[in-house]
Amino acid sequence: MKMLNIKAGFCPAVVMAIVMACPAWVIAGPQEPAETVAIIGTGYMGGALGPRFAELGYRVIYGVREPGRASVTELVARTGHGATAATQQAAAAPADVVVLAVGWPAMIEVAQNLGNLDGKLIIDVSDPMVQGDDGYAERTVETSSAELIQGWNPGATVVKAFNTLGYFVIADPSSVDGPVTVPLAADDPRAKERVAHMVAAMGLVPVDAGPLRFAHELEGMALIYMVPLDQRREQEWEFYFRPSTHWRAIWEDDWSVPVKDAGHLAEIP
Ligand SMILES: NC(=O)c1ccc[n+]([C@@H]2O[C@H](COP(=O)([O-])OP(=O)(O)OC[C@H]3O[C@@H](n4cnc5c(N)ncnc54)[C@H](OP(=O)(O)O)[C@@H]3O)[C@@H](O)[C@H]2O)c1
Repeated sequence: MKMLNIKAGFCPAVVMAIVMACPAWVIAGPQEPAETVAIIGTGYMGGALGPRFAELGYRVIYGVREPGRASVTELVARTGHGATAATQQAAAAPADVVVLAVGWPAMIEVAQNLGNLDGKLIIDVSDPMVQGDDGYAERTVETSSAELIQGWNPGATVVKAFNTLGYFVIADPSSVDGPVTVPLAADDPRAKERVAHMVAAMGLVPVDAGPLRFAHELEGMALIYMVPLDQRREQEWEFYFRPSTHWRAIWEDDWSVPVKDAGHLAEIP
């Protein structure tokens, strides 16, 4: 019998094709109870992420200021898979994962008033920016939104993700004709790993972008992502970090001291 020879070069593509083709319960295992994801905010990002999480088998609850609003009812129906809507606190309370899809400065109040988030995974997708005098985006916080959110919710684990790509790419990764990277910054490697698996299952490419303080850099990437839009260009682009192995040779030469968590890195699919 002819054996299938899977070479490293195309293995990720094959794995991705299998992941995309399988129903969520096949990937998660039918015995595992579905995790609950609260999506706080039903704007562009909430409206893109909610349906994608629901497709993957997560139980989605939208956390909204007015759960009865017509646009929310429409989003819940579009999401399907048993999705519901509740107030922000009521959505966050039973959730394993809380996605903060809220703009700034509203985030300052929202992220400090969701109740006790101890033990939960928070995914911060936000970019605190305004348009500067020259028309280009500029930051509105010194550190990063993710670090501030972590400070306000010290018992939770914050992962910065999804802030460097447009909502339309999340809704349909195939719409931009090529792979798109989702860099992840977090201090907890296991939390980063959980989000990496979600990202990969959505058909996007997760990369480990370092500790939570590097959320500052990821928010800087978002400023750059905006440049073609700020300039009103007809063509924009997406971030894609092409894998390579060049640095490994240098690292083996003791060029630098390994990072503190070198023995405890997230396994990125
Ligand atoms: N749009 C993108 O493509 C994109 C890409 C990357 C990152 N981001 C970031 O993701 C975050 C959300 O962006 P978005 O485009 O989804 O924004 P948006 O369309 O304006 O939606 C933000 C949502 O925040 C919710 N919200 C909760 N409390 C609020 C309050 N007090 N005031 C105002 N809104 C409140 C609202 O949902 P309810 O009405 O349901 O309560 C609102 O729909 C932002 O930080 C943005 O920088 C956006």
